[in-house]
Amino acid sequence: MKKRVLSGIRATGTLHLGNYLGAVKGMLELQDNPDYETLYMVADVHTLTTPFDVEKLRANRREVVLDYLAAGLDPEKSVLFFQADVPEHTELAFYLSSVVNIARMQHLPTFKDKVKQYPHHATMALLNYPILMAADILAYKAGFVPVGIDQEPHLEVAREIARKMNEQYGMDFPEPQRFATEGEYVPSLTGEGKMSKSVAGSYINLTDGLDAIRDHLASAPTDSGQGKVVPATGGVANLLTLVELFQGESQRKDYEKMYLGEGIHYQELKESLAQAIYKELQPIQAKRTKLAADQKYVDNVIADGAKRARALARQTVDEVKVKMGLG
Ligand code: TYM
Repeated sequence: MKKRVLSGIRATGTLHLGNYLGAVKGMLELQDNPDYETLYMVADVHTLTTPFDVEKLRANRREVVLDYLAAGLDPEKSVLFFQADVPEHTELAFYLSSVVNIARMQHLPTFKDKVKQYPHHATMALLNYPILMAADILAYKAGFVPVGIDQEPHLEVAREIARKMNEQYGMDFPEPQRFATEGEYVPSLTGEGKMSKSVAGSYINLTDGLDAIRDHLASAPTDSGQGKVVPATGGVANLLTLVELFQGESQRKDYEKMYLGEGIHYQELKESLAQAIYKELQPIQAKRTKLAADQKYVDNVIADGAKRARALARQTVDEVKVKMGLG
């Protein structure tokens, strides 16, 4: 039997390099491996957990599908769907919430960070975020989840829920593992923290042209270019991580040698990095332009994905209902 894989990305706009390297690359790798059955959704329901604009959400969920298809996710190989089209996820989330302690959710670092970021938006939906994510995964009994390292606390919750459901109700949920990529943590261009949609100036979008990429890199902080030790954190460290991800480890080592010797010229580093990033993004952008013109095709992919995903999720939810005394 094929091993099941599930992943998703929230509908907060077009994808950035963090989403691409941390999640989409892993999604692609598993999609192209015949040992896996892959399901990839747009986590549009999860988008309601932080402040959102209705019309933007409506547009953004389609943008994510375009990004998925342009990056190489293939509806012939993967089930691509909107989370909101499969109500079994929210139904299962409620059943699963009966084995979750409130304090466990309140103490999650991801919950605390979001409450700090949006103090007036500490909603029940936000508290339930990890339970819905567990439902997304367990609805398909998926054992593998390609996501960035920031999602590890959520996967831990999913594993706890799986264990409890197995022990208390005799389910056979696997304990889902993260499928990691080389870019499991893409740093911010600001020099602090990770690349994130909610931090202005921190990210490069998959849709950015060469000039936009140059502009974003231009504002990344640097130093004199020379020193006794190569910085392990901050702007320069982050640029070197991007160099490694897009130009390889040996290019990074060359820069490190320069840093300890004659010095790095950041303008040149940034220009060659911009070219390398654009070289990877350009084919994705060309494909995206073509797809954006074919509304019908995208609509069909989504409708077909919903049908296929629902059929699978329904089986699990019915099984849970019976085991819990609801059917
Ligand atoms: P979201 O939209 O916050 O992030 C989407 C994916 O991008 C990854 N990511 C990064 N990876 C490396 N470096 C970064 N700087 C970076 N920024 C973002 C995230 O780790 C994630 O993989 N909770 C999920 C959405 C979700 C989901 C699921 C995922 C909902 N249900 C079920 C898997 C399975 C999330 O973080 O979305």
